[in-house]
Amino acid sequence: MDPLAILVTALWAMLPAYVPNNVAVLAGGGMPIDGGRTFRGQRLLGDGKTWRGTAAGIGVGTALAIGMDTAVTGATTVTGLALPPFPLVPALALPTGAMVGDIGASFLKRRLGRTRGSAVPGLDQLDFVVGALVLSAIVAPAWFGRVFTGPVILVVLVVTPVLHVLTNGIAYLLDLKAEPW
Ligand code: CTP
Ligand code: MG
Repeated sequence: MDPLAILVTALWAMLPAYVPNNVAVLAGGGMPIDGGRTFRGQRLLGDGKTWRGTAAGIGVGTALAIGMDTAVTGATTVTGLALPPFPLVPALALPTGAMVGDIGASFLKRRLGRTRGSAVPGLDQLDFVVGALVLSAIVAPAWFGRVFTGPVILVVLVVTPVLHVLTNGIAYLLDLKAEPW
């Protein structure tokens, strides 16, 4: 595959994992997942991880993957690239893994004594990618193996932090997010 084909494939395949975090920012609020519980004096997850944000992120991400699945033939014709379809299992796994990865990172941040909204460079930009890749590799290994070849994974790991910094910067400038990370 040529570099552009790898990039477009990586972005197409990861879009259902990119969108949930941004949806959670817009939809978040209400009951925190940890219900206010603490562990050794620190919140388990913190007020930044809510049921509503998580459910909205998974719901919209899954709906997007299903929509992209119905559009895959058209997208393949337009781009001339064999873009991958999203069967139901990876359509659910990509956004769910992304949200679980982000929640896992908050758990780690609280254990490190970092308060809600504090930046942990690297972790903040890649938590949801690792979650999405690992969960889809576990529940849809054959699909994962076809779509996420070595070069595609490499591009995902390099390009995602850049996109994440950009979209969160925009969300911050639009007053949608409290911090630019
Ligand atoms: N959000 C949510 N539920 C999630 C993830 C995010 O409701 N599962 C919402 C919250 O309003 C959160 C905002 O999106 O404040 C930004 O998400 P994020 O940066 O991941 O959370 P932080 O508030 O920075 O908290 P943390 O330090 O735990 O990452
Ligand atoms: Mg944050």
